[in-house]
Amino acid sequence: MRFGIKRSLVASAVFAASLLTAQPDQTDDRKVYADKIRANYNFHFGPGKISTPGNLAVEGADFLQPDAFLPASYCGRCHQEAYSQWRQALHSNSFRTPFYRTSVNILLRTKGI
Ligand code: HEC
Repeated sequence: MRFGIKRSLVASAVFAASLLTAQPDQTDDRKVYADKIRANYNFHFGPGKISTPGNLAVEGADFLQPDAFLPASYCGRCHQEAYSQWRQALHSNSFRTPFYRTSVNILLRTKGI
């Protein structure tokens, strides 16, 4: 089974949105987090547009705190082969490489995204 990154992101967002709906105490965490991010976010594509130019949408159309997402190991409980392939691939380690982290930090510093 091919485990496309876009599809997995969409699936994660759907899972996260359902978690937020199911657990009311998390909505407060989300609001606090979203307010903090919104304060400094560069809405390059227009006010309130957090996903543009992508097509991804989340319930509430607002920022999600990172811990609202399930860890990949959770998905691996059922998708063992896809998880194993992904775990060994560059994508699973991308945020650990100095080059990638530097790119992210440059975007944060210069574009606010
Ligand atoms: C409890 C078991 C289980 C867990 C946990 C699980 N999935 Fe799935 N997933 C499935 C099943 C079963 C299907 C196939 C559904 C179908 O074909 O109708 C599926 C299908 C998918 C597909 C579509 C695959 C394709 O080729 O069509 C994606 C993408 C996906 N899951 C991503 C995830 C992600 C991301 C997570 C973790 C956030 C996750 N899944 C967690 C059972 C699970």
